[in-house]
Formats: sequence, C-alpha cells, structure tokens
Amino acid sequence: MSDHDAQSARIDSILTEDRVFEPPADFAAAAHVGSLDAYRAEHARSLADPEGYWGEAAQALEWFTPWTRVLEGGFPEPRWFPGARTNLCHNAVDRHVAAGHGEEVALIWEGEPAAAGTDGGPEVRRLTYAGLQRETAQLASALQRLGVHKGSVVTIYMGMVPELAIAVLACARLGAVHSVIFGGFAAHAIADRVDDADSRIVLTCDGAWRRGHVVPLKATVDEATTMTDRIERVVVLRRCANAVDMKPGRDLWWDDVVATGDPHFPCAPMESEDLLFLLYTSGSTGKPKGIRHTTGGYMVHTNLTARLVFDLRPDAGHVFWCTADVGWVTGHSYVLYGVLTNRVPTLMYEGAPNAPAEDRLWAIVARHRVTHFYTAPTAIRAFRKWGDEHPKAHDLSSLRVLGTVGEPINPDAWIWYRDVIGGGRCPVVDTWWQTETGGHMITPLPGATPTVPGSCTLPFFGVDAAIVNERGEELPHGTGGLLAIRRPWPGMLRGIHGDHGRFLTTYFKRIPGMYFAGDGARRDARGYFWIMGRVDDVINVAGHRLGTMEVESALVSHPAVVEAAVVGMPHELKGQGIAAFVTLKRGFDPSPALRAQLVQHVAHEIGAIAKPDVVRFTDALPKTRSGKIMRRLLRDVAAGQETTQDTTTLEDFSVLARLRAGDEE
Ligand code: WT7
Repeated sequence: MSDHDAQSARIDSILTEDRVFEPPADFAAAAHVGSLDAYRAEHARSLADPEGYWGEAAQALEWFTPWTRVLEGGFPEPRWFPGARTNLCHNAVDRHVAAGHGEEVALIWEGEPAAAGTDGGPEVRRLTYAGLQRETAQLASALQRLGVHKGSVVTIYMGMVPELAIAVLACARLGAVHSVIFGGFAAHAIADRVDDADSRIVLTCDGAWRRGHVVPLKATVDEATTMTDRIERVVVLRRCANAVDMKPGRDLWWDDVVATGDPHFPCAPMESEDLLFLLYTSGSTGKPKGIRHTTGGYMVHTNLTARLVFDLRPDAGHVFWCTADVGWVTGHSYVLYGVLTNRVPTLMYEGAPNAPAEDRLWAIVARHRVTHFYTAPTAIRAFRKWGDEHPKAHDLSSLRVLGTVGEPINPDAWIWYRDVIGGGRCPVVDTWWQTETGGHMITPLPGATPTVPGSCTLPFFGVDAAIVNERGEELPHGTGGLLAIRRPWPGMLRGIHGDHGRFLTTYFKRIPGMYFAGDGARRDARGYFWIMGRVDDVINVAGHRLGTMEVESALVSHPAVVEAAVVGMPHELKGQGIAAFVTLKRGFDPSPALRAQLVQHVAHEIGAIAKPDVVRFTDALPKTRSGKIMRRLLRDVAAGQETTQDTTTLEDFSVLARLRAGDEE
C-alpha cells in the first residue's frame, strides 16, 4: 500500500469517526460567531456578496485613503482594495498608541536560558505598543540611512528575539519588503534567496539559543556571503555573546545602527497592492519559490481570521501564543500581523520546547496566563510521548482555545490535546491553510463549529473551497479529489517572485479557472473537509514543507553520488520522514560512515530539517522505459509495504526486488 493509499485507508476509517464535540455553551454564548447557523448564514452572505463582506471586514482597520473598489479582476491576479493606502505597522502598532493604548503590552518575550533573568527565572521582556512604535521607527529610519527604501528587499535571518518582530514591523513601516529566512536554514539557502530577491542587506544575530547551545547565525551569513556578491550590509544583533567576525565596511552592530535612527519616523503610506513580504517555500522543483504577499488584502485577511478563528478580543485578558517561528508563514500571520492588529498581546518564546526540560511550554503557559495556544501536530505528538506528567505539573486553566496547523492531525493526538492540554473545556481549531493563502482557509470557528477530530471542518467566510477532479468538476462527498479554491480571497499570494510562468502553472493551470492547492482531500457526509496530504512532489516533515527535488539536488552535489531519489515515508512523530535512495559513483562503497556523511551534507546544503531519516544505497533506481524514476514504487519500499502499483512499465524488475530485499549496504 502506498503512502497515499494508507492515507486513504486512514480517512476511510475516520470518515466514520463519530466523536463530535460541540462548542461549549458558555463559550458560544460570548463568541463572535456563536452557532453553526450563524456561520452558515454568514458564509452564504460572504459568497453572495464578497465585496460587501470584505469591505465591511476592512473597516476594522485604518486606511489613509479609501479604496475605489473592494475587488478588481479575478484569478490569477485579483486586486484587493485598489486605490486604498494603508500601512501594516500603523495598524499593528501606531493605531493602538493613537487610541490611547500605548502603555498596554503588545509583545511578551521569554528567552530560552532558564535562569538568565533577574529573579533567577528565565529572562522576560514586555514591549508596549508605544515601545514598539519607538523601536520600529528608529530601526526603519536607521535602515533608510543605510540605503533601504520603499520596495528594497531586507533579508532577516534571526533567532526568535523581540528584535525579529521589530525588524519585520520596521520594514512594513518603511515600505521595505521583508524576506525572513528561518534560522534553521543553511548558507546556501540564504544565498539562493538573497540572489533571487536581489536583496542587499541582511539583518542577523551573533547567535541563537537552541537547547542550551548557540547556533552561530552570523557565521552562516558569512558563509553565504562567499556564495553571492549581493550582500553589501550585514547588521548584527548581539544576543549570545559568541565570537563573531565583523568585516569592516560591511558589518555593523545593531545597536550602533539603531542609535542613528529617528524614534518619530512615520509609517509610509502604502498602496494596497504594494509588496509587503516575500517568503520562500518549497515546491516540486529544486528551487524554492518566493511567495509574494501584498499589503491591504493580507492585512484584512489575517486580522479577520485571527479574530474569528481564535475568538480574540482586546481588553479581555487574552494572551496569544503561536509557537511557530517567525521564519514560517504561521509566524508572520499569527505571531505578528493578525494578532497585533487585533490589539491582543502576542507571546514569543526563543528556544526549544524541551529546554531545559520537557515541561517548558507548560511553565510558560502558566507563567504568562496564556489563553490561546497554537501549534503543530508534530509538536503535539512529541508532548504526548514525553508524558502527561509535564502538562499536569502546571496550571493550564488560563487556556481558552487550542489550535493546530501544518499537517493532518491524527484523531488520538487531537483527543489528547483537547483532554490533557485543554482540560476537555477548550475548543480545538484545526486550521488548514498555506504559505500561499496568507491566512486560514478551512477551519472551525470555536464558538460555532462542532468539531470532529482529524477534520479541519468548513471553509472560512469568503472562501469557496471544493473537492474537484482535473476538469474542475465538483466530486460527491466521500470521494477523494483535488482541493481547489474557486474564487479569489484577500490574503492570497500575488505571484512567485521573478517567475510569473511558474506562478500560473503551479496554481492555475492544473484545474481550469481555479486555484489548486497541491493537496488531496475529501468531504464527509456533513460536508466537512479531510486533508489527505500533498499530491505533488512536496513532503511535509514535522509541519514543514520540503521539495523532494531540493533534497535530491543536495544529495547529488556530493562527490560520491550519481543519482538520488527522495520520497516521503510515514513517520510516527514527524508525520512524514524523508527516505533517500542513492546510487554511488564507481570507487565509492556503501558504508554507515558514508551514509552519515550524506545526511550531514544535506544538513549543510539545506538545513537540519531536510536530513534524510533513511538513506538506502542501491545499484540502480527503478525507472520507467522512458527513464522516469518511479517514485510511487519507492514510496512503497520506504514504507516497508508490498506494492500495489502497476509495475508493468518498470524497466528492470530486479531493481525493485533488490530494493525490497533491503540490501542496505
Ligand atoms: C501545506 C502548506 C499554513 C501554515 C503551515 C504550513 C499542509 C497545513 C494543515 C492542516 C492538514 C495541513 C497542507 C498544505 N497543511 N495545514 N490543518 N491539516 N494539512 O504552511 O509550509 O505552506 O504548507 O501544509 O499540505 O498544503 P506551508
């Protein structure tokens, strides 16, 4: 059985899942959307009159100039709120200061080292809206002095420190485009993104704390500068006090730079369709794509989804904690923009969930009275494995809503999350969306939607989602098909940076007239959506997206490797693991040492998240007569299963037999 068939079988069994959890009555009574009927009526209205619906949603934010229309044009390049001007930093920060909330806490940060604070506990910083206004203004102004202007791309490669949030917001303030690169990526990944985006400046840290160790971020940027000539400036924040080389004329200390900035530097008025950020994500080719997100629509979408999907409101004592790194879209939308524009304090934690011990996150929830907790199924599976005693040792009674994102969640992990973390009283929202969608697309609303473990339930307002075949015909409930979105939504990507053709073919060519998400899915009898996983050459490892071809290119760049094929395989904790099949050059022999070297090589080329879990040496890869690698067969082999695939086109049957026999060395 292939990975996909296994997924289907899983879904067959859970389509009969009969555990349904109604929103708690007291929660529903006070919620923004308080019943399934209310949801259905509003969803119908949002599709009948999208301009009316989104125009109203946009009123929750401040605009310097009003729009002439809510929506102009359609797929593939709709324009949302044309004619309008606004600024994301203004809406996330300055607006709240102007309304008299300057002294309220905007951001709570906790450092990793467990005893670095003045009270013997961890270091904690609280930034107010007024503080954020000052700091983003100063940095924006200082960046401008360094030659950054509207439209310049600023690369940000930092740990999870408050200055990362300040850097992102400062770019938005100035009208510069941020391109955040997750701190786990390697030098090549930085250089590729810097080149693709034509970015001249990198903001980084000396290092980042991770499980008691210093990850040397600045040294990795130094390595990247040997691979591209574009980096003219590197601004370095001191965080870990590790030794760094500062190159005269290129490298500057953060504090020195900021000292030159004007704390009253204003927010630049941005056109609604001005580029806000680039965020690179993996696709089915070897080269990650720079997803383009613009200002107005993204702001409205993230603001509204954060409010309704988590039932957020200001002045209600809410503390929102999304555990994602700001290097991923989840961090952009639900650590920063969506939460701050709702005037709800957002929490950032610097380090690993098991540093110094496996109860760290629960200690944080208790210490800061976290009300909303948003994480990935992989993390939930790890928490569960670590043992119930860790959450049970802390007071988690402040929690109100639990969220999950990034990959399908297995029903037992869902139930554990609800019972052990949520004490059985918190609604669980399983949110389906993507880097490309900007914000939530299919998700329960906590006061309205009865939830079924494993299902992301129903489309958000304004979202027209369907299960279709390649011709775009909607399939009956119960039938697996392609997940498509049939009309534009405000937070959608506006392109792939520098590659319009790829933008069109990836998202709009496969199903005529619709956005194709890359996922397979089904609906059950109540119309709820169940995500089956990617149907392209993208794998989802621990909630992070990786292209199989990216990992293959990394492998073949090693001198010992002739050819490599990479596939996903079921993995108990990570959802999917990475299996690599490798053929070696003459003169190289399979060995455990070489296997370890190849794994290290991939980590060095891409980053630790791309390390193969399994490397199998083989003297040939199974191919069709036309020379295409038969990945589906390899998936079966990696999953340790007999294949049900048609092997009649397989060039050399003995290859498969030998692979199955498991001749590892
Ligand atoms: C892919 C997008 C959106 C932020 C995190 C990942 C998978 C995402 C769910 C979910 C099942 C999910 C899909 C999607 N995915 N959320 N709730 N249930 N699968 O963003 O890196 O752009 O990956 O993640 O396969 O296509 P991303």
